[in-house]
Amino acid sequence: MVAKILAFSGSLRAASVNRKLLKLAASELREAGAEVTIIDLNDYELPFYNQELQDGGFPEASDKLRELVEAHDAVLIVTPEYNFSFPAVVKNVLDWLSRYRPQPFGGKHGLLMSASPGFVGGNRGLWALRVPLECMGVHVHPNMFSLAQANKAFADDGTLAEDALSARLKSLAGDFVSRVDKANA
Ligand SMILES: Cc1cc2nc3c(=O)[nH]c(=O)nc-3n(C[C@H](O)[C@H](O)[C@H](O)COP(=O)(O)O)c2cc1C
Repeated sequence: MVAKILAFSGSLRAASVNRKLLKLAASELREAGAEVTIIDLNDYELPFYNQELQDGGFPEASDKLRELVEAHDAVLIVTPEYNFSFPAVVKNVLDWLSRYRPQPFGGKHGLLMSASPGFVGGNRGLWALRVPLECMGVHVHPNMFSLAQANKAFADDGTLAEDALSARLKSLAGDFVSRVDKANA
């Protein structure tokens, strides 16, 4: 069974470096044999989680996201670091989805990446993101990818200018797809 991966960025802006990395990572995952569905969180507008809203029925956007997560084996999240953590838009998605039973993320595999113009590449945000994902039962891949100085890291064709980084991304994508494939076997 082909590994099915749902992929989204934690940045909503069009010129996002994380969206750029998402595109590149998705193509590496596809080369490694996975089927990747990229979604844009701009298309899934959710109110801030409020149990009173949930009591009146889940929003359509969270129902759609739940179906998408359930239809895939894994998620790729490529997100900026905001104040050493991850953006509220991602937390809000996780909070809404965490209220369904069974838990849509339970038993899924997770691959985390970040990009930042800074020197740490947004890596601290990924450590914060692991916590709620693990709480929801996601098998978060031990290795993550954080792209530092992301404003200068891409070549014109959208690949990474530095060969060593390209090779690392490719190898991580391959490792992750074989992990999901093994679990599916
Ligand atoms: C609210 C906010 C907080 C930020 N905090 C961090 C941070 O902690 N670490 C970091 O490397 N960059 C931080 N940045 C800068 C982002 O990394 C930078 O804006 C980046 O381009 C955002 O990702 P995007 O291009 O994918 O939208 C922050 C930006 C914003 C708007």
